[in-house]
Amino acid sequence: MNMAQLFEKKKQGQELTQAEINYFVEGYTTGSIPDYQASSLLMAIRLLGMTDEETFFLTKAMIESGDVIDLTSIDGFKIDKHSTGGVGDKVTLIVTPIIAALGIPVAKFSGKGLGITGGTIDKLESIRGFKTELSSQEFIDNVNKHKIAVAGQTGNLVPADKKLYALRDVTGTVDSIPLIAASIMSKKIASGADGIVLDVKCGSGAFMKTQEEAKKLADAMTAIGEKLGRKVIAHISDMDNPLGKMIGNKLEVVEAHSLLSGRQDETHEDLLEECIIISSLMYQVAAGEDEATATAAVKRVLEDGSAVAKFEEFIVAQGGDLADIVQNDTANKVAVKAASNGVVGTINALLIGEASVELGAGRLTKESALDYDAGIQLVAKKGDAVKTGETIAYLYSNREIADETINKVQKAYTMA
Ligand code: URA
Repeated sequence: MNMAQLFEKKKQGQELTQAEINYFVEGYTTGSIPDYQASSLLMAIRLLGMTDEETFFLTKAMIESGDVIDLTSIDGFKIDKHSTGGVGDKVTLIVTPIIAALGIPVAKFSGKGLGITGGTIDKLESIRGFKTELSSQEFIDNVNKHKIAVAGQTGNLVPADKKLYALRDVTGTVDSIPLIAASIMSKKIASGADGIVLDVKCGSGAFMKTQEEAKKLADAMTAIGEKLGRKVIAHISDMDNPLGKMIGNKLEVVEAHSLLSGRQDETHEDLLEECIIISSLMYQVAAGEDEATATAAVKRVLEDGSAVAKFEEFIVAQGGDLADIVQNDTANKVAVKAASNGVVGTINALLIGEASVELGAGRLTKESALDYDAGIQLVAKKGDAVKTGETIAYLYSNREIADETINKVQKAYTMA
């Protein structure tokens, strides 16, 4: 077998066999297939797609490229969630303690952010002392004791994805439904959870720009999970607008804590609604409850303070300093003003995401340094009436704030 044969088959619209897909994944991961050949096949997949069977074989080969985490020493049904990535998406920080407060073990491995998409690990690392690198034993002990642990992905978890994702990122092949489905599901399955709730983002700030594409991705991921014996539910949510009021690592941790503490004026109802939906789905999958019972249980732990108590217990258990969950002053702060009177229609999530990267809240490359305190506070959200010259957002950064960034945020606001 060689790569030339695989190119020919793919070009003629034929399906690749499991053996051919294994040959590609194994060869690329171990270095016997060079980048230029792998990128050629990835582009063919990006343009011509993959059948469900090919996508399944790709996922399986990627899982088998590295370690699979064994969570059997944790009692109970282990539930995980995954978001396909968005702007201001701090849902994991909120729903994991809600679920843990309901007594369901949450054993979650999360990633760092790249581009406009933030990562849970960066957000948690913005808290002084918080440890995201846990040994397997520490991770399992924390889940058994506190019902929650969130850690960075271990070194040898799906090494095929690390190499393939890095190549896709620089060859224009990220936005492919089969490649995204295999990338996400291989990591979720290798992470060992019994059930997975998928939050598929759709809109300007997401990989999937239309409902139709988002539905295809959701269906592809659900089918893979079910074929591999996991309980999976997918939910499609809006990413035309950023979620909540804060974008930026520490700012999002502070917002998550405010929401869990019931300080609704410091956050926005879109975030609360989304968190109730996702945690209700997680509870339905894990506990087999119906929607009404699960949603009532979620609201109960939010209202009686047990979700915020669990959040604080989790932060302390992983070495974080609760006193550091505060918005720090930054060297620079700029108020962005409304350019016209009106009611805010949409706030373009893509532009807000790009501006947050320019402020230092996100990475352009894996090596970029982050400014944990940098970010954007959306003072006006969709549906709010504003007047010309009124402050619609604040920008925070320890870097100089460029006029271009200020203009970008102003332009992100469209008046209805
Ligand atoms: N997130 C992933 O983990 N993989 C992708 O391919 C896209 C988003």
